[in-house]
Amino acid sequence: MEIVIVNDADTAGTVVADIFDHAVRSGARTLGLATGSSPLSVYRELARRHREEGLSFAGLQAFLLDEYVGLPDGHPESYAQVIRTELVNHLDLDSARVFSPNGTTGDPFGAAAAYDRAIAANGPVDVQLLGIGANGHIGFNEPTSSLTSRTRVKTLTEQTRIDNARFFESLDDVPRHVITQGLGTICDAGHLVMIATGEHKADAIAAAVEGPLAAVCPASVLQLHPHATVVVDEAAASKLQ
Ligand code: F6R
Repeated sequence: MEIVIVNDADTAGTVVADIFDHAVRSGARTLGLATGSSPLSVYRELARRHREEGLSFAGLQAFLLDEYVGLPDGHPESYAQVIRTELVNHLDLDSARVFSPNGTTGDPFGAAAAYDRAIAANGPVDVQLLGIGANGHIGFNEPTSSLTSRTRVKTLTEQTRIDNARFFESLDDVPRHVITQGLGTICDAGHLVMIATGEHKADAIAAAVEGPLAAVCPASVLQLHPHATVVVDEAAASKLQ
């Protein structure tokens, strides 16, 4: 695993954008996208490079990590909608080729399995962006998720619902279930790139990078991956040995 420690959050975003820029210019076909706050500096920088430096995403496809179950199509906090607003609308990436789990069907279990099959059939993901939860989750693989899990329905922990309540009017509005790529699915990607900034991520980063490989810290699965890069600011790195 490669660990890159930089001064601040904006620089972390630029370093991760460099990795995606290089992948795109070197012929990557499939990007893996994440939502949440951590990727926003990356997305802003990629949009700037598209606008000002001709970085083109034409012909690429992308798969999201996860989606809430039960938010209607077009809900501003559905991850399909968030990724349009934060990234796709600012690039020449064809929105019809940006895929996410379908959280709106009556059969989320079937939708999860179908999404896993779609990634296997159309992937692999060349470069996968990841954030990390304060409890070490990646995607929505909460602690004790199997390290070989596939895309499936998961119940959010109360802590993750509280963490995500800032995007909703109230905690009650945060869905209880999600469809998430499994840890095994995520690890099928060629290159995993995790970004974490801020002191509230320091324990999770220490556990993921230097702790034992263990399902209690799902992000520790990166230790098994042949090509994983973790980009952190000094605050998120502050509990590394
Ligand atoms: C979102 C996702 C989550 C977030 C994590 C950190 O698609 O996969 O694992 O990356 O919850 O969220 P932020 O970046 O908001 O702290």
